[in-house]
Amino acid sequence: MATTQVTPRTSEKVAPAEMMKALVYHGPGKKTLDERPRPTVLKPTDAIVKVAKTTICGTDLHILKGDVPTCEPGRILGHEGVGVVESVGSGVTSFKAGDRVLISCITSCGKCAACKKGMYSHCSDGGWILGHLIDGTQAEYVRIPHADTSLHPIPPGSDEEALVMLSDILPTGYECGVLNGQVEPGATVAIVGAGPVGLAALLTAQFYSPAEIIVIDVDDNRLATARRLGATSTVNNTDGKAVEAVMQMTGGRGVDTAIEAVGVPATFAVCEGIVTAGGTVANVGVHGAKVDLHLERLWAHNVRITTRLVDTVTTPLLLKTVRSHKIDPNLLITHHSKLDDVLGAYDTFGRAAATKALKVIIDV
Ligand SMILES: NC(=O)c1ccc[n+]([C@@H]2O[C@H](COP(=O)([O-])OP(=O)(O)OC[C@H]3O[C@@H](n4cnc5c(N)ncnc54)[C@H](O)[C@@H]3O)[C@@H](O)[C@H]2O)c1
Ligand SMILES: [Zn+2]
Ligand SMILES: [Zn+2]
Repeated sequence: MATTQVTPRTSEKVAPAEMMKALVYHGPGKKTLDERPRPTVLKPTDAIVKVAKTTICGTDLHILKGDVPTCEPGRILGHEGVGVVESVGSGVTSFKAGDRVLISCITSCGKCAACKKGMYSHCSDGGWILGHLIDGTQAEYVRIPHADTSLHPIPPGSDEEALVMLSDILPTGYECGVLNGQVEPGATVAIVGAGPVGLAALLTAQFYSPAEIIVIDVDDNRLATARRLGATSTVNNTDGKAVEAVMQMTGGRGVDTAIEAVGVPATFAVCEGIVTAGGTVANVGVHGAKVDLHLERLWAHNVRITTRLVDTVTTPLLLKTVRSHKIDPNLLITHHSKLDDVLGAYDTFGRAAATKALKVIIDV
C-alpha cells in the first residue's frame, strides 16, 4: 500500500527579504519614500546595482502629473544614475560585482532588429522601461535587465557626479538635437528651451563649432546660464515674439538648425518660423498635445523635420568627451540632496523658476 509521507518543513526558514529605501509613485500627485524589498536577479542577463548617485528628470514630474499612464502606481521612479554592481546573473559577461557603472536610461538587448540599427530606444525587450515599466534608480538598489548592453563601465578616476548627466540628458540633447539637427561648422543654431536638455544640446553643439547659437527661453536665470555655457545670444520669449527677434538677429535669413527642447505647440511654431530654407527642425520635446505643421509655408523651403526618442547610442563617445574635459556636465548640477530627503529634492526641482534648479544630485 502506497503511503504519502508528509515531511514537516520546520527546518526550512524563509529569510526575510532585505529592505531598502525607495521613492515610490502612488498615482497622480502622490509619492513617498518607502521601505521596499531589495531587487534580486530575475533573469540570467540581469545585474543588481547599488545606486551611489541618482537625479530627477522632468519626465519624473510628467509621471507625477499623471501624463504617463503606462507608469503604474507602486513604481519606483528614476532612470538616471551611477553605482556599483552588487551581483550579476549567470549570463552577464562584461560586468562583475564591485564594478563601478553608469546606468543608461534606455535598456537594450543588443540583439533585436532595432538594437542592430543602433535604435536602442525601440528595443523589443527594452527601450525606456527603467522607472517607467520596471522599478527605477531613485532607490538604494536597482535591477538592470540586459546589463551587458545597458550599463557602461566607469573609467577609474572619473568624476562620477558629472557622469550622472550622461544617463539621459547629455545623449538626449546630443542625439535628438545636435546630431538630428545636423549642426555644422559656421552654422547658425537656435535652441528653444534652456532646461537641462536644451543646455545639454548647447554644450554638445559646440563640438561642431557653429558660428552662432541663439538660446530662447522665458526664464532670465536660465538664459544667463546659457550665455555662461556658450550661447552667443539669448532671447526672452515671454512676449511670444521670439520669431521676430531671431529673424531680426539673422538679417531676415533665419537659422540653419532649430532645436525644439520644450515640448509645447508654441515652441514648435517658433522653430517652424525661424528655420531657413534648407535647414532642419530637430524636435526633442515630448509633446502631449496636438501640434500644427505649417506645410502651406514649409513645403517650398526644403526643410527637414526630425523626431527621436533618445537611444543613448552616443554614451561611450560622450564619456570620452567628459574624460578629456571637452565638455563639463557639472555645469548643469545646481543642487545636492540625500535619498532621505528625496521629497525635498523633488520640491526644489519642481519649483525650478524660484529655486534656479537645473539638476539635483541625490546621494544614496
Ligand atoms: N526626445 C527624448 O528622448 C527626450 C528625452 C528627455 C527629455 N525630453 C523632453 O525634452 C524637453 C526638455 O526637457 P527639460 O528637462 O530640459 O525640460 P524643462 O521643463 O526643464 O525645460 C524647458 C524649458 O522651456 C522653457 N519654456 C517654456 N515655455 C517656453 C516658451 N513658450 N518659449 C521659450 N521657452 C519656454 C522653460 O522656461 C524651461 O526652461 C521636455 O519636453 C522633455 O520631456 C525628450
Ligand atoms: Zn529623463
Ligand atoms: Zn534590443
